Amino acid sequence: MLQNQADFFFETGTWKGDGLAYAATFPFKKLYSSEIIETIAKNAVERFKNNNRVIIINKSSTDALKQYGITLQGNTIFWLDAHFPGAEEGINGYNEIEEETIKLPLQKELEMIAARKKSFKDIILIDDLRIYEEGAFESGNLPESVIPPNNRNTNFVETLFGNTHNIIKLYQDEGYLALLPKSLTDLSFLENFYFNQINKLFKKLL
Ligand SMILES: C[S@@+](CC[C@H](N)C(=O)[O-])C[C@H]1O[C@@H](n2cnc3c(N)ncnc32)[C@H](O)[C@@H]1O
Repeated sequence: MLQNQADFFFETGTWKGDGLAYAATFPFKKLYSSEIIETIAKNAVERFKNNNRVIIINKSSTDALKQYGITLQGNTIFWLDAHFPGAEEGINGYNEIEEETIKLPLQKELEMIAARKKSFKDIILIDDLRIYEEGAFESGNLPESVIPPNNRNTNFVETLFGNTHNIIKLYQDEGYLALLPKSLTDLSFLENFYFNQINKLFKKLL
């Protein structure tokens, strides 16, 4: 649907690169993905070495946004999926990293993206809504062993994007937030909106 309307794709949190590989099947001019864990980033560089549109950035998501993301000159799809560095790989425990802007960088990421030029129709997709609130999530609420953010809510999303974007909460999997520019008047594609894996989300939106 938005094919040809988004020039760039910017992901925070690469992990194995599966989301990125799927996004790369669409004709973005460039796709960026930031990964803080060096070994994971190296594997991703290897995986995408033959795709010159893909740029893997071995930095924290906020450093990568600062250096590459916020200055992108065109509509961008941001897929914000960085949290609990190294936990998926078993390199770190879920609560091992204490610095909040590294462990759960979403608010800072959104502050940076919100400061981008207002003329861009950026779409922002956020994974793991259940980190930020309780709800009827298909995969259940955040396990008690995982410590949530100090200030646990999504009020900052409304504050930062309430004027410019429609904010949609989805409860499939671990929950998603979709921030869709209000200037996108045709939202008919949201009828029958259903997915239970990110690929279907991408399929609906791209
Ligand atoms: C849920 S996985 C990402 C899955 C991937 N986006 C996909 O769609 O296939 C989260 C990844 O984010 C990384 N990560 C966590 N915190 C980060 C941060 N502050 N900056 C960059 N990467 C981070 C983790 O190491 C992990 O590899």
